[in-house]
Parts: sequence; C-alpha cells; structure tokens
Amino acid sequence: MCGIVGYIGKRQAYPVLVKGLHRLEYRGYDSAGVALINGEGQLNVYKSQGKVSDLEDTAQHQDLTGSVGIAHTRWATHGEPNFRNAHPHLSQYGRLAIVHNGIIENYAPLREMLRQNGRTFKSDTDTEVVVQLIEYLQEKQQLSFPQSVRRTLQMLQGSYAIAVLDKNQPDTIVAARKGSPLVVGVGDSELFLGSDASPIVEYTNRIIYLDDEDMVVLHRESDSNANEVGIDLMTLHGEHKQPRIEQVTLDVSQLEKGGYDHFMLKEICEQPQSLRACLLSLRQALFGSDSEPIFSLLQSANRVLITACGTSWHAGIVAKYAFEQMARIPVDVDYASEFRYRNPVINEGDLVIAISQSGETADTLAAIEMAKKQGAKVLSICNVIGSSIPRASDQTIYTMVGPEIGVASTKAFTAQVTVLTTLAILWGKRRGIVSESESADLLKELDSLPGQIAKMLTQKEAIRQMAQTLSFAPSCLYIGRGYNYPVALEGALKLKEISYIHAEGYPASEMKHGPIALISQEMPVVTIATQSPIYDKLVSNIQEIRARQGRVMAVVSEGDTEVVRMADGYVVVPCVSDCLSPILNIVPLQLLSYYVACLKGCNVDQPRNLAKSVTVE
Ligand code: F6R
Repeated sequence: MCGIVGYIGKRQAYPVLVKGLHRLEYRGYDSAGVALINGEGQLNVYKSQGKVSDLEDTAQHQDLTGSVGIAHTRWATHGEPNFRNAHPHLSQYGRLAIVHNGIIENYAPLREMLRQNGRTFKSDTDTEVVVQLIEYLQEKQQLSFPQSVRRTLQMLQGSYAIAVLDKNQPDTIVAARKGSPLVVGVGDSELFLGSDASPIVEYTNRIIYLDDEDMVVLHRESDSNANEVGIDLMTLHGEHKQPRIEQVTLDVSQLEKGGYDHFMLKEICEQPQSLRACLLSLRQALFGSDSEPIFSLLQSANRVLITACGTSWHAGIVAKYAFEQMARIPVDVDYASEFRYRNPVINEGDLVIAISQSGETADTLAAIEMAKKQGAKVLSICNVIGSSIPRASDQTIYTMVGPEIGVASTKAFTAQVTVLTTLAILWGKRRGIVSESESADLLKELDSLPGQIAKMLTQKEAIRQMAQTLSFAPSCLYIGRGYNYPVALEGALKLKEISYIHAEGYPASEMKHGPIALISQEMPVVTIATQSPIYDKLVSNIQEIRARQGRVMAVVSEGDTEVVRMADGYVVVPCVSDCLSPILNIVPLQLLSYYVACLKGCNVDQPRNLAKSVTVE
C-alpha cells in the first residue's frame, strides 16, 4: 500500500531512490515519483502513471542530480491512479514536496479551510492537503520546517507514513509515522528512509524502526566537506527520544528473482528451503528455554480468537481445526476487518492469535489493539521482523521464510500453517490430549515435509496440463473437507487473484446446498482428495459432480485408485497425516494458479488492483 524511500547523504540520491522503489513495488504500482533537491537548491519532481520503469523512462534526460530526495510508489486510495494524483505532491508555492502512505480521514474539512485561505489544489488526493497545510502553517505561524510538520501532524486524523522535503532547508528530510510503517537506515555519513528495510539493506543493516507517532528529522551538515549526518527523533508532542538502532540480517539475494521468471514461482519453488528455515527457527522458539512465555500465554487461555486477513485467515482456519482437535480448546476465527467492528465478546482469559505475513495489515493491527484494550493477550505469527503487529503483541513467533515479494502469498502460508500446527501438537501434548509418541511422530513427519514438497515439485508437468483446462474456464469451484476445506479456499483465492478467473472454495458436502446447481462442463471443479478419515465421503461428493457431467481436477495421495479413475486430471502428493496435509496440498494449487495466470498472459507478480502489504483499511 504505497512504498516510500528517502535518502540524504553523500551519493547521488536518484539511483538509490529508484532501486528502492523497485524493491517496494510489491506495495503498489499505480504510479511512481521522485523529488530531488539539486546542488543549486532547486526542487525537481518527476512522476509517472504506472510502474517504476515508467518513471525511469519519464525522468531520463532530466536533471537527476542531488544527494537529498524522497520517492514513492502508489497504490491508489483517494483519487484515480493517474499522473495528477501521483506522488510527490508539491505545496502551493512549490517550496515543499511530500510522499505519503496511508489515509488522512479528515482531509475534506482541512482542504476546505485551506481553500478558504487561498490555496488551490492540483490533485484529488488526501495527501496534497498535508503538504499545503505544512506550508500554510510555516507562513502563518512562522514555524520552522520541522515544527510546521509536527503541528500539521497533530491536526491529522487517520494513518500515515510521510517524508517531506523543504527546498529552503536542502539538507533536511522530515518524516513521521502513525499506523503505516517507516524505518530509518543508518549508514556511514548517510541516512535512508524506507517503508521497510528492503530498499536499505544493501547499503546498511543498521535500522531504526519508528514507533507510531514518532517524527524524525534527518539532517546533513550544510558544509559538504563535513560529511556528517544526524537524526533527531521525537514524538508528535515534541518529547525527544533516543533512537534504538537494530541490526537486520536480510540477505540482498533474497530480494532478487534468482533466475526464476517471477517472484511467485521462486517463492513456490523455494518452499522446501523456506520451510526448513521455519522449522529450524521453531526449534528455538518452541523447544528451547525461551518458549515458556509463549506456553504460559497458551496455558492461561480459556479460548482462542484467531484474527487475520486473506491467505493468513485461511491459515487461521487450519489452526482452528488443529487446536480444537489436538488441544481441545475452543477457537473462533474472524476476518480482522469484521472482528474490529462487530463488537465481539472478548474476555480476560482469551488469547488472540494474529496471523500476518507482513506484520503491517491495518485491520489485523487494529483488531489486536482493540482486543488488548479489552484484556486479551496477543500472540502473533508473523514473517517480517520488527513490523508493527509483533511490536503490538505480547509474544510473537516468526515464520522466518525470508521476504515474500510476489503479491500472491505462497511460502508464508505453508510456514504459518507449520507454526500453528506445531503449536497445536505441543499444546495438545501439554494438555495430555496428544500422547508423547503421537507428538514425536507428528513432529518427525513435520520435519520430513520440506523433502516431501521437493518431491511434489517434480510434478510440474501434470499441473501444467491441468492449467490448460482451467485457463479456458470462466469460473471454477474448489472443494475440500476437514483440514483441506481451508486449502480449497486458499487455492481458489490464488486462482482469482492472479488469473482473474472467478473461483470459489467450498466445503465439499455443502455443494448440495447450492453450488451444485452451477456444475457444468464449463466450470471445472478442483478437489483436494488426499487420504483422510473422511476420504470416502469426498469420493461420494466427486461422484455427485461426475453424475452431472462436471469436470474434476484432483489432488490425490500416492497410491490413490478411486479418485484418479474419476478425475479428468490429477496430481499426486506424498501421503502424510491428515493434520499436516494442508502444508503439502496447497503447493500444487499454488503452481496451478501460477501456470493458469502465465497461460493467460497475466502479470503474476503484480496482479491488477492488488498490493502486498495492506496498510489501509
Ligand atoms: C493473498 C494475499 C493476501 C494477504 C492478506 C493479509 O495471496 O497475499 O490475501 O494474505 O492481505 O496479509 P498479511 O498476511 O500480510 O497480513
């Protein structure tokens, strides 16, 4: 949801900013822009509708000099995704430039007030109001650049991460956050800003994660020989804070495609490695001495409320099945966007488990903040270290699968389910429901899953063939039962988000209560039909589809003889315990959606209208 980059230091800012925007393009790709202050103190702004590469085309042959700058890649909220609404936005007299990620909720009355005071607006965005207001306050109240930004922020409602340039103070960037992420990178005589650490890590691994309502002034000695930079960190109320610098261990090669055509394919194919990394880190988190705070949270819970969005919500449903079966603890699963507004019953003994790859999803963050206020404890399952959701949680377990850049989530899902299933096994064991030997067997089987996924990935050809059939379908149904009902939901989500084919996930037996009316040759049904205690029931559901001339694509276990006889296409996965099967069964469905999208010529990594980190509600 919009990416921000900033630079102040000794090198030319433009290449740093543009490379950074490429790294953040997963957050939005409706438009891109950059503002630079050159050696003569001129503020140059270049922007373009579309992708960062369009910006590069627009900006070439322009004056791109300057070692102070800010840049933005946009996912449109207020105002169409066109040139006029692209960031950076300038103030009335062109003194200031701003980039913004978030939503200013009270922009309308502020805009009206500014209009009445002679300001005119060149865009339809909420962001332009902020930059106009800063300039207005600078003039009206004779405030310094940082003071005017701080005063403006005090007047805003909503969420923001902003970075602002003032051409009258060419050696300063002022930035702030509330509800949207922003980090500062501390280099050698240079400072960076980023919506996350990915645009920064190739220059420095020293990162300051700003807290909500932090404002930071990044400045450079105006005497260019001095080569000194400094950081003033303060709250919106003007209290000074000591910056806490953390070392991050992000490997730049993780941010590259590494020879694959798309990030999504890379992330699907690297699941044997990413899951191994996840299992390794789980060993520390859940098996070492550090695990007690997590288990004491679990053991004091009377009930679990899982909250998440999208793919992470699907992982939450798998967790419900696992916690209830293995730990016999009642679990509710809610979309965070519903949970936060529907006035749910939350008691002191409740444990909220928040699941989020990015750690920045606005609804999930708001849901846990609301639950905490009502006395619940929060455990988060997250991938991005230092992101907002872990920081707002009592405890966090990191999935540790490295950056997920493809907009469609893949390796994060398998890792989330792995973490949650491991928790269920260990919790069940502590509650005396899962025996020592059952737990040991399941944990051993979990350790074998990376190898099983690698084996499954050798069957790309069978999946490619299934993709041919699906690519002509206007609509598809995905069905599964038990642990594989959420896999059906997730498989359908993958297909619709990257190939734009309508798809619905359904519990197989619910078909009779409506969707069976849709069955025809034109609507293939993808079934997850691996071995489980209710395999026979699923076989009956498949027969009901066949009896109505429906076409069936199936994911089956090794050795299957019944479903393969009925299916028009199938892919075989290794046999594993039912509770672990989602981790394996989703992989062919991820690949299936990938191949369908490629056959249809869709932009796999940047599907239309989507962005990866949903930092607005
Ligand atoms: C789907 C997808 C989204 C995310 C959702 C939550 O492929 O990526 O549905 O799962 O936006 O994001 P996180 O997990 O970052 O909170």
